[in-house]
Amino acid sequence: MFKKPNENFVIEGSAGARNLTGELKVGGAKNAALKVLASSLLFTDPIKLTNVPRIDDIKIMIDLLNDLGQNADFNDKTVRLGGKKITKTSLNEDLSHKLRASIVLTGPLLGRTGGVSFPHPGGCVIGQRPIDIFLNGFQAMGAKIHYDQNKYHLSAPNGLKGARIFFPQQSVTGTETLLMAAVLASGTTVLDNAALEPEVVSLGQFLINAGAKIHGLGTPTITVSGLGGPLAKKDHDYQTIPDRIEAGSYLILGALAGKDILISHCEPRHLTAVTETLKQMGLKMNIDHSSIRVNNEQPEFRAINLKTHEYPGFPTDLQAPMAVLLTQAYGQSFIFETIFENRLSYLDTLNRQGADTMLLDAHRALINGPRPLKGESLDSPDLRAGLAYIIAALVASGRSIVHNIHYIDRGYEKVEKKLQAVGANIKRVSCQG
Ligand code: EPU
Repeated sequence: MFKKPNENFVIEGSAGARNLTGELKVGGAKNAALKVLASSLLFTDPIKLTNVPRIDDIKIMIDLLNDLGQNADFNDKTVRLGGKKITKTSLNEDLSHKLRASIVLTGPLLGRTGGVSFPHPGGCVIGQRPIDIFLNGFQAMGAKIHYDQNKYHLSAPNGLKGARIFFPQQSVTGTETLLMAAVLASGTTVLDNAALEPEVVSLGQFLINAGAKIHGLGTPTITVSGLGGPLAKKDHDYQTIPDRIEAGSYLILGALAGKDILISHCEPRHLTAVTETLKQMGLKMNIDHSSIRVNNEQPEFRAINLKTHEYPGFPTDLQAPMAVLLTQAYGQSFIFETIFENRLSYLDTLNRQGADTMLLDAHRALINGPRPLKGESLDSPDLRAGLAYIIAALVASGRSIVHNIHYIDRGYEKVEKKLQAVGANIKRVSCQG
């Protein structure tokens, strides 16, 4: 089982100098691979995933699946798993507490076996993150639910039935979980106000290639004609799509600290909201079909109003890195975080670094810029704010130490190695105690 050493990043900042040069290669999308791994439970044959990022969230998901008897083999960037008898229907409690995405296992598991038990999922503390959408959806499909000893117990001994499900709020994992449950249900399921994220479309497309009957991916209404039994077609591989959040993070870093940065192996089509926002701020980029070059001639960025939004709007997962860029823009910027209610708390730390930000309420903040940042001791509160701290430390003057980097390792593969290769002064160091 996967265990984590205690480590920090030590970063020497460039004091605002834009000197990073070279290529930043984007890996496979965490939030796509996690769901396709979970979908292995829908199959009677093994499946193979390529371009899978070697990050901690993926390792935890693999541990969860192995605990259910899925026999996963993760070699380089390829995972082979499934095709085995599912040996239990209860999700491992410790692992589920570590990973919000553990919830997506409930859909295929309930659909395939007629039962699932699980604790409330863990993951980054960026808001309340309830699971009502999942429970209501399963109930509409005929599952009985009871809560006992800190666990939800769901059962549908005669199988799930197709239903019409309206999401009161668009939910990425909610859509994916109920989509997977619906594939094996009997009858037709309609998911209304479904999420449009590329990761949802990619999962759905993989299932279609394997024989599932799904219409309307990438639109708010997805219709699934249930097969009434498992997927069995052999030899279907899944190539993980590029991680748009990793690409966007490097793009923002390139804007702040790049002399000539090429972000390669990405999917710029999935980043339109980000590139359009950066253009509005004054950034010049060369956008190709699979790469973006940031060639920093422009010294001044303009302040903007930034509103996060479900895809294709500006992703909440890039809101914190973007805030660092806004500390260096001329004028007053406004951030409106519309998806999560606890995703601006990192701003206090940026203020300690010298930023001038003001929290208006749980969802809104002002940022005055530009302000020089200085080296600090930074405690990552979650994955994306942790990455934002790395970016802030890289452009600050002096030394910073980023703690709690286990959050960052959840979602960014070899981040320090990639950044060192473009000239960043960042080291991973072990810390005792
Ligand atoms: N919501 C409910 N009830 C539910 C489920 C969600 O009210 O039952 C609310 C949430 O509280 C939130 C909104 O719906 O206000 C949207 O949340 P969503 O369910 O879409 O988030 P998620 O599926 O838990 C995924 C990503 C997140 C990303 C969000 C939004 C995965 C594993 N996680 O989370 O990624 O921020 O969508 O795009 O796909 C990350 O990678 O760092 C990360 C947090």
